[in-house]
Amino acid sequence: MTMIRAAVVQTDPVFGQVAANLERALALVPRECDLAVLPELFATGYQFRERAELGGLAEPVPDGAICRRLRDHAAASGTTLVAGLAERAGDRVFNTAVLVRPDGSTDRYRKVHLFWDETRIFDPGDLGFPVFAACGTTVGLLVCFDWLFPEAAGTLARRGARVLCHPSNLVLPHCPDAMPVRAFENRVFTLTANRVGAERRTGSELRFIGRSVIASPRAERLVECSRTAAEAGSAVLDLALCDPWITPLNHVTRDRRPEYYA
Ligand code: ACM
Repeated sequence: MTMIRAAVVQTDPVFGQVAANLERALALVPRECDLAVLPELFATGYQFRERAELGGLAEPVPDGAICRRLRDHAAASGTTLVAGLAERAGDRVFNTAVLVRPDGSTDRYRKVHLFWDETRIFDPGDLGFPVFAACGTTVGLLVCFDWLFPEAAGTLARRGARVLCHPSNLVLPHCPDAMPVRAFENRVFTLTANRVGAERRTGSELRFIGRSVIASPRAERLVECSRTAAEAGSAVLDLALCDPWITPLNHVTRDRRPEYYA
């Protein structure tokens, strides 16, 4: 497939109302879409008070209730879904993004770069940065704060990813402006699905900034959602634009000089 219709779904979850958050998010997924990305921890909410609370809302992958509902939706709609959830694996809990295809097959990525209080309650991802076949191309997954580390997107691109799916719960303002740069420097499409609203379940209120964005390998912003509304945005991704040649004599991977990098 050289053209993919892809969407970012921006949600406004209420902490702990898993079933309602899940259904509201799926209702926003556009019809006739090949690929849709939902936010980080989209069904549970974000601000867990402590690890015990997190453990209660986490689920095994791929057999937990959220994953099963994503699989039903993917099968019925023909849309491949990427979404963030808390994954329980024995006594560990990861901030995970799952990729669920219409045929029911499911892959996962476990967030490597944990943000702020996540460092106290989640286990850091232990799978590195795998890439997956989906929608006729190669897809890489990032979760929210991973955006700040260019090595993460770069590793996925050098492993062949053409589309980076990025479930997020952004609170700092910079990511929506940075993602077109990540897309340009790696010659990939990026799909950042963020949430809106606020949570104040601990001493610090978190305000989520919206502005979900689809960026092209030419650093164009194909979609940018609002700062406040639950809504979806979609675009057709022309994968022919993922051209590693910058000029006839410059190649984005071949020209790297890793021997000089720290
Ligand atoms: C974040 O990583 N949720 C900011």
